[in-house]
Amino acid sequence: MPSLSVFGAQWGDEGKGKIIDLLSDRVDVVVRYQGGANAGHTVVVDGEKWVLHLIPSGILHPGKVNVIGAGVAIDPVTLLGEIDGLRERGVDVNPARLRIAANAHVIFEQHKRIDGLNERWKGSGRIGTTGRGIGPAYGDKAARTGLRIADLLDPERCGGRLRANLAEKNALIARVHEEPPLPTDELVERYAALGERLRPFVGDTGAELRAAERADKRILFEGAQGIMLDIDHGTYPYVTSSNTGPGGIPSGAGVPPRMIGHAVGIAKAYCTRVGEGPFPSELDGEAAKRLRDAGHEYGTTTGRPRRAGNFDAVQVRYGLELAGAASWIMTKLDVLSGLGDIDVVTGYRVNGERFEDYPAHLSTIDEVETEVETLSGWTEDISGARSLEELPDTARAYVERVEEIVGVPICMLSVSAERDAVIQRSSIFEDGWIEEAAGDAPVGAAR
Ligand code: GDP
Ligand code: IMO
Ligand code: MG
Repeated sequence: MPSLSVFGAQWGDEGKGKIIDLLSDRVDVVVRYQGGANAGHTVVVDGEKWVLHLIPSGILHPGKVNVIGAGVAIDPVTLLGEIDGLRERGVDVNPARLRIAANAHVIFEQHKRIDGLNERWKGSGRIGTTGRGIGPAYGDKAARTGLRIADLLDPERCGGRLRANLAEKNALIARVHEEPPLPTDELVERYAALGERLRPFVGDTGAELRAAERADKRILFEGAQGIMLDIDHGTYPYVTSSNTGPGGIPSGAGVPPRMIGHAVGIAKAYCTRVGEGPFPSELDGEAAKRLRDAGHEYGTTTGRPRRAGNFDAVQVRYGLELAGAASWIMTKLDVLSGLGDIDVVTGYRVNGERFEDYPAHLSTIDEVETEVETLSGWTEDISGARSLEELPDTARAYVERVEEIVGVPICMLSVSAERDAVIQRSSIFEDGWIEEAAGDAPVGAAR
């Protein structure tokens, strides 16, 4: 059974959590393969809001297995807090349905501290990170000075390696940043205790996923962040520290590349970005504020106001092509209601040269000027629409024109944060993968 990759096709916060929760109904296993608690994935069920940072967005569906793979940088404090929080709200989180990779790297206190200090050090050149220790932890992984979850479970090994890591980080904190060092003994003890609490959940998740595939289970890989934040293919250096698209799955989950049968991108009907870096279709002033307020665009993880702009077809086409996505899902279409006519970016111009395809080879896309096409808006509230026929003509025309410019079919529309608020437009996959899982009922109708 080919697996499904669902990834962000913009700069993150596209509504992945909502869609993955919805699709979880039809799969057996949901897997995070990269990123860490920089992610904030929101699910809304009957008006109740759930925010997930490390635990996959399939956790609200009883009986589904949720895997945190080797490529995820795990902050045990956040993870245990999330487990406790879910349990307090009645979600069954047990070692049979939450699996943690023994070879995933650990984010420690020093990584979070240095994340913040690095940003201060960079001043106006800062990235605007989430402060969750992502860059420093992945840096240690690449430098081979990091600790993995399995190390946490071995107190002697953990003590030795953690002390060595802290000695280096404390020197940096004290000498470069002139801040007080972190308490080594206390941290060694604290993390050993956190490791003990995680022990029951830890295993060889790569082997478990490969076995799940052999048993014909349906596996959904949950991307965090978005393609434009990919460390190699995004707007470097204003990116995160992992491969965010389907390309990150084989190494991040410990599965062979051939397992990924389908990729579906998620993109908003407009665009947002949190933190610094190029954003060609960005709006400013009143127009940005109206869009931000209409879409409640404030960071799920940090509460920061998100930068807001128009849908950028050049950028989304690039993301979908890079990921090999045969279709995509447009979210937050309802947010455009009442905002007047809508511009969509159709081309870039840099130094007089015109680009219809994203110019990833340029060292900076800061200087990009955009070409836009203006589409008619609508005023009706569309959050209750569950079929294309219920949409105003102009909203339907917007979707069709954007799809045409992007050149990749839209398989689903999302019209409010609620779990079932979608309009299924076509079979999600060319071979009906999702339908196969539960007869002919449309997605969202099975519960
Ligand atoms: P993620 O990181 O991609 O999972 O997205 P976030 O959860 O960070 O941000 C998306 C926000 O939009 C959340 O508050 C969702 O509840 C909300 N949302 C998701 N889909 C829709 C939609 O179609 N319409 C509206 N109005 N809100 C949505
Ligand atoms: P989800 O999964 C939006 C951004 C940060 C910053 C850059 C680097 O919810 O879509 P990092 O902390 O990763 O070193 O920050 O990446 N960023 C996100 N933006 N959504 C996210 O996750 C993000 N995770 C990181 O704002 O610009
Ligand atoms: Mg988010």
